[in-house]
Formats: sequence, structure tokens, C-alpha cells
Amino acid sequence: MSVAALVLAAGSGERLGHHLPKAFVQIGGKPLVLYSLETLASVREIDCVVPVLAVPDLDRFRALGPALADIPKLAEPVAGGARRQDSVRAGLAALPAEVSWVAVHDAARPLVRPQAVARVVAAARRDGAAILAAPVADTVKRVREGRVIETPDRAECWAAQTPQVFRVDLLREALAKADAEGRLATDDAQLVEWLGVPVSVVAGDSDNRKVTYAEDLAAVERALCGAAQPADGERSRG
Ligand code: C5P
Repeated sequence: MSVAALVLAAGSGERLGHHLPKAFVQIGGKPLVLYSLETLASVREIDCVVPVLAVPDLDRFRALGPALADIPKLAEPVAGGARRQDSVRAGLAALPAEVSWVAVHDAARPLVRPQAVARVVAAARRDGAAILAAPVADTVKRVREGRVIETPDRAECWAAQTPQVFRVDLLREALAKADAEGRLATDDAQLVEWLGVPVSVVAGDSDNRKVTYAEDLAAVERALCGAAQPADGERSRG
């Protein structure tokens, strides 16, 4: 009944506009991808951590050498694919047979806290599928061709985060169905929702932000290296 974490780091990071691939952008002298790997490896409920990298980045990742040797539970890196869903498929295919649960995490979220990871793993083990999410502060509009087509009730709107945790066979089935139907999801819960299976929501931390644009990177740098350190010392810094 072991639990694996897939750390997805195979995105191009084009929107960041950095000269390095996003996974290797330095924050406080450390490549971004290492933060998530270290945090997930520090969680007692996670048994192995599998990095998923773009093919051209695999050698650069292995060259991190000593930094990787210090991370417990770290598996060999897996080659990801062109789209996020392809990277998830590749990661799932690489999991050993004894893995029953998988936590899929965006490497682009280096601020995730170990306590939040433990909470979402516990919820998934109880319910079969669970995600971290945070309530949205803004009113959300559905917009098509520049016009509002719907305003969902804000009290029901949450921003999905990662990790998202599933029974491995459930996520495999959901992915196979989406592939067969030619559908692309923007997160893994959506794949499971398309099966009609309920997904539980666990309140995550509002600062579990995804590094997509330069301003996200600046905010994450401030959180990890700036003067304002978290008072409770909860966050793993590796
Ligand atoms: O593109 P998006 O912002 O949804 O990416 C979220 C995460 O998925 C990032 O950590 C990124 O590296 C990863 N990803 C991936 N393979 C892709 C595209 C994205 O592993 N082909």
C-alpha cells in the first residue's frame, strides 16, 4: 500500500521568460525542482519520490549529484512528455507495482508545506481521491470571446493546487478514458471527475503558488529567501 509522489518538472517554462528551464531556475542558490523533491521526501506518508523531467534536462538533473544524494526516497528521473498529461502518463508508467497511491505535484509549486501534503494524502486514503485547493478571493467569471457567460457563486469557487492524490488504478483508468476520448485536462482531478468519481477538497495554504510568470518567481523568492520567514518554521527548506 505504498505512496509515491510524482514531481512534474517537464514543462517548458516559456511563460517565465527565463534563460534556464524552469526546473533549474535558482532560488536562494538552489534549483526550483529541489524544493518540492525535498518537501515531499520529508513527509512520512510518502514512500518514494519520482521526478519527471523533459528529455533534454535529464542529464542536467543527474548532474545535480550531491544535492540529489541528500534527498531520501528519491527514485531515478523519468522522461516526461510534450503536454502535462503526457508527463503524468510517463510518471505513472514508471511506478513500481507495489505503489497503490500517487500524489501528483507540480514542481512549479516549491512552497508546498509537508503538513498540507500529509493532510491531502490522509484524505485520499479515506476517500479515494483528494486535492489541495484554496478559496478564491476574486469573483470568477467564465468568459468567451470577450464576454461574460457565467458568474459562478464565489462561495463555491476554489483554486486547485497540488499535490493531488489518487488511488493509482483510479488515475490510470481516468487517464486512459481521457486519452481514448482525446480530452486534455489542466489538472489530474479533472481526469477523475470525467469518470464521475468524487474528488475531496482539502484546504491548502494560500501561498502554495505556482511559478508561471516572473512575478510568481519574485514572490516565491521573497517567501523562501526574503526577510519574512514563516513564524512556525513549518516549511522545509532542505
Ligand atoms: O503548464 P502548467 O503550468 O500546468 O505546468 C504545471 C507543472 O506541470 C509544472 O511543474 C510543469 O513542469 C509540469 N509539466 C510537465 N510536463 C509538461 C508540461 C508541464 O511536467 N509537458
